[in-house]
Amino acid sequence: TWTPDSFVDETVADLKAKVGNDKVVLGLSGGVDSTVAAVLLHKAIGSNLHCIFVNNGLLRKNEYTDVLKQYEGMGLNVKGVDASARFLNELAGLSDPEAKRKAIGKVFIDVFDDEANQIEDAKWLAQGTIYPDVIESVSVNGGPSATIKSHHNVGGLPDFMKLKIVEPLRMIFKDEVRRVGKSMGIDAELLGRHPFPGPGLAIRILGDITSEKVRILQEVDAIFINGLKESGLYNKVWQAGAILLPVNSVGVMGDERTYEKVVALRAVESTDGMTADWVNLPYEFLQKTSNNIINKVKGVNRVVYDISSKPPATIEWE
Ligand code: XMP
Repeated sequence: TWTPDSFVDETVADLKAKVGNDKVVLGLSGGVDSTVAAVLLHKAIGSNLHCIFVNNGLLRKNEYTDVLKQYEGMGLNVKGVDASARFLNELAGLSDPEAKRKAIGKVFIDVFDDEANQIEDAKWLAQGTIYPDVIESVSVNGGPSATIKSHHNVGGLPDFMKLKIVEPLRMIFKDEVRRVGKSMGIDAELLGRHPFPGPGLAIRILGDITSEKVRILQEVDAIFINGLKESGLYNKVWQAGAILLPVNSVGVMGDERTYEKVVALRAVESTDGMTADWVNLPYEFLQKTSNNIINKVKGVNRVVYDISSKPPATIEWE
């Protein structure tokens, strides 16, 4: 019978046999899958596992520094690379969702390739691919492989794509990944994190992206997510976040009229992200969150709640 402990023992033994004394490169995203994959490999080969954690400038508020610290605290051999400026530059002026995704994928590949090339004699690329990613073949949360293909069908693959692939989670499901993580002592909060799209806040800022819009959305998102945690609602939700809409709305402040940004809040229940229902969050919670956002985040004067299910809507807005 399958147990998390037996999975860990067997996988660590397999990894040792397979990888030996070779160096392995792994991109950490802050998500559950890449973290659990990293801890398994770390158990097997220690500091021969070289982790790279890229800040694309589109993560949640404080996420880059907080998560990097957490990784270091876990003993992982991890290098943080703050490439925010490169990503924002490449995104400047782009409004089309697929163009934004492509730009982010391209910069990610360039940054990751530069870093991977600095690890001398690396032989393997480790990935946090899980079973649903394998069967879907085009993974949703599973990383940049589709983008890599669309970008490098001319001119050859980046160097890291020529490494041998090792995927310790490719036979198991998300709930099993969490159980394996728990049995290895990974922090429960980290294991319980909501899914977060690779392109991050870029696809939650509808229209073009500026550093000011990123800042506004990070503040709004932090108020919403922290509120969910404080109210004991976070773990009842599959995924939640805020969307910055590309419209201004009229408001009043004292005697003055304002003309400021609108944000939408989204919280869904789901088991796999393929279908999803909007969550019936308590009115009191919504009321408090809306007041907090409008009072605390300069530039926002209206909050709406998304009551659409998937299908026919999607979880993200673009
Ligand atoms: P949708 O919006 O298609 O989202 O209902 C389903 C799940 O996929 C995530 N998502 C993405 N993840 N890159 C990713 O890594 C993307 O471009 C992307 N688009 C959507 C979304 O957050 C949800 O969990």
